[in-house]
Amino acid sequence: MSWEQDLSARIRADVDLKELVTVRVGGRARHLVVPQTADEVGALLRALTAEGRPWRVLGGGSNVLPPDGVLDDVIVHPKALDGFEVAGDRVHVGAGLPTPRLVALCSRAGLAGVHVLAGVPGQVGGAVAMNAGTRHGEICDSVERVSVRLADGSAAELSPDDLAFDYRHARLPEGAVICGATLRLWPVDDTSELRRTVGCYLKERNEAQPTRTWNFGCMFKNPPAPEKTAGVLLDLAGLKGLSRGGARISPIHANFVENVDDAKAADVLWLLQEAEQRVLARSGLQIEREVRTW
Ligand code: EPU
Repeated sequence: MSWEQDLSARIRADVDLKELVTVRVGGRARHLVVPQTADEVGALLRALTAEGRPWRVLGGGSNVLPPDGVLDDVIVHPKALDGFEVAGDRVHVGAGLPTPRLVALCSRAGLAGVHVLAGVPGQVGGAVAMNAGTRHGEICDSVERVSVRLADGSAAELSPDDLAFDYRHARLPEGAVICGATLRLWPVDDTSELRRTVGCYLKERNEAQPTRTWNFGCMFKNPPAPEKTAGVLLDLAGLKGLSRGGARISPIHANFVENVDDAKAADVLWLLQEAEQRVLARSGLQIEREVRTW
């Protein structure tokens, strides 16, 4: 039996990629699979591997630029694995749980640690895979264990050492799909104080960044040991407000590209490349993308 027959109830065909990424650009995907359990993720990967079919993992889509045309790779979308369970000072969370929801649930439960992610979009799986963070901290500071399914379908538990977390980076086995994580948090006495802190972080972000448009969050990583952040380097290179087709670099924060008028992926890609070239010409630095181009 082929993987399509095996998992037919979980497959959506001819899917609009725009709907799945926060920048709202892109063409269509031939197949998107929404597994309901980690075992279904395992069965899917086993079947795809057996048939030599490539796949890509898509969580909240906040750091992905899909192509304008048709994507043949199967998309694994673990959004239904969205559990949240408190066990003392730990929480067990599913990869598909939206990161803003994780922050809200933990602060309501009086558990600090992931409050540093206030305002970060996406889902837990992507947050772990890219070690999401802000200037207040990163998710790796709270991760105790990560459950994945490997390319052969088997289950594995990865420690922070296995994941070798770094700035916006984690090391995952090729083809692995994150299904969930155990986070170790710290209980606070004053829940309302924790919720106030989250509110302050959100306010800070709303003031400094364009939070109400279709965008990826920051498109480039900050340089290592930065004297200047990527935002400042892009700003100095005169990129604020530069537009191409329906996309433009935010006039508020130069590290954000926005889809303002039905942009194409090609418009966004052009701006990413132009930004890289202008920063190199202005500051002599090669900035690295946070956004993954498919
Ligand atoms: N700035 C400029 N011009 C700009 C943009 C920023 O002068 O066009 C200045 C700001 O005025 C500020 C400084 O640069 O003094 C830093 O800007 P910001 O506070 O926005 O921080 P950032 O380093 O650009 C990082 C993360 C953000 C995170 C913020 C706040 C990266 C690449 N970015 O941005 O994360 O929200 O700190 O904690 O690490 C993301 O990763 O997607 C992201 C948005």
